[in-house]
Amino acid sequence: MKTSVTIIAFALLLASCSSTETMSKLIDDRLSRSIEQYELMAASLMDQPDRLPRDITPDGKLRTTGPSDWVSGFLPGSLWYLYEYSERPELLDYAVDYTMRLIDQRYNRGTHDLGFMLYCSFGNGLRISSDTIFRSILLTGAESLASRYNPLIGCIKSWDHNGDKWQFPVIIDNMMNLEFLMWAARESGDNRYRDICLSHSDKTIQNHFRPDFSSYHVISYDTITGQVEKKNTHQGYADESAWARGQSWGLYGYVVMYRETHDERYLAQARNIASFLISHPNLPADKIPYWDYNAPDIPEAKRDASAGAIMASALIELSEYVDPPTAKGYLEVAEQQIRTLSSPEYFAEKGTNGNFILKHSVGHLPGNSQIDVPLTYADYYYIEALLRFKKTLK
Ligand code: GLY
Repeated sequence: MKTSVTIIAFALLLASCSSTETMSKLIDDRLSRSIEQYELMAASLMDQPDRLPRDITPDGKLRTTGPSDWVSGFLPGSLWYLYEYSERPELLDYAVDYTMRLIDQRYNRGTHDLGFMLYCSFGNGLRISSDTIFRSILLTGAESLASRYNPLIGCIKSWDHNGDKWQFPVIIDNMMNLEFLMWAARESGDNRYRDICLSHSDKTIQNHFRPDFSSYHVISYDTITGQVEKKNTHQGYADESAWARGQSWGLYGYVVMYRETHDERYLAQARNIASFLISHPNLPADKIPYWDYNAPDIPEAKRDASAGAIMASALIELSEYVDPPTAKGYLEVAEQQIRTLSSPEYFAEKGTNGNFILKHSVGHLPGNSQIDVPLTYADYYYIEALLRFKKTLK
């Protein structure tokens, strides 16, 4: 009896070791293949110094965009991550080149997306290279972002477009810009940036979330009273639906705010969002969400790889802040997401897919834009998730 228990325990130990090894091998393999793909991507735009990748055309060619597009920071950010992993000098050169394409964006006061744009690019650059020029560029950019804060409303304004529809739109995505401002608060010693982040996070808990911890996409505030004037969607299926990427942005945003503040309310918010997503009856077994959890044509609805990659990365970090059984549950979901995104269904062959890494994301389905295409941010958060998961295996 004792011998058979020992044999079973040994077999279980072997099984768990080999599954760790397999995940470790899978991560290294996909990072190596991502490097090959992104070196092709980076090389392809070296003769166009103002361009950055956006998505692909219907015939599979890379479509580019300018530095003021909200997605501009993701290629440089991915290059920094891949350089950090591999220390390949080619990647460092590319990372610096693509990062510097965004230098004028530090003065851009027309968007809330400066966290994505500047912190993924210059922020990773500063963290990895300690280049002090990056620091001053970031601090100027942080001031531009803070200029969009309205103290009556207590939030950072997201968009300037659609002024006839929304007085002061704040989208759930905006939680993603706070990491940048929290960094600026620490770095500059100016607590105004921190106060903005806390107010924005608290208002978002108050007004963006439903009792089940799903979130609205757009909350618009009345600029005279400071009160909510509208609860809408822009990129989701319906005002009352759970647009998948928005749910992932919210989860990631509160994980970051907990990391930055240790305020238990933000941890509770992140855990509640995670529970909503993980237990959602429309989350497929392979854990890559449909583009909207309430899409009417599920199970035929398009999947959104970007929502899966962002959620995986957030869950891996969240697993560090919770009790072991809960952490295990989060890591199991993240592992499944990484395995699915690493399968041939999602992971592109070298030289295909416009040299993006992942296939099958959805940008703006109701706008009939970017449906089932590769997207720079799906790749960025996938790489981040690979690197984060790798650390859990040590
Ligand atoms: N922040 C814009 C988007 O997620 O599509």
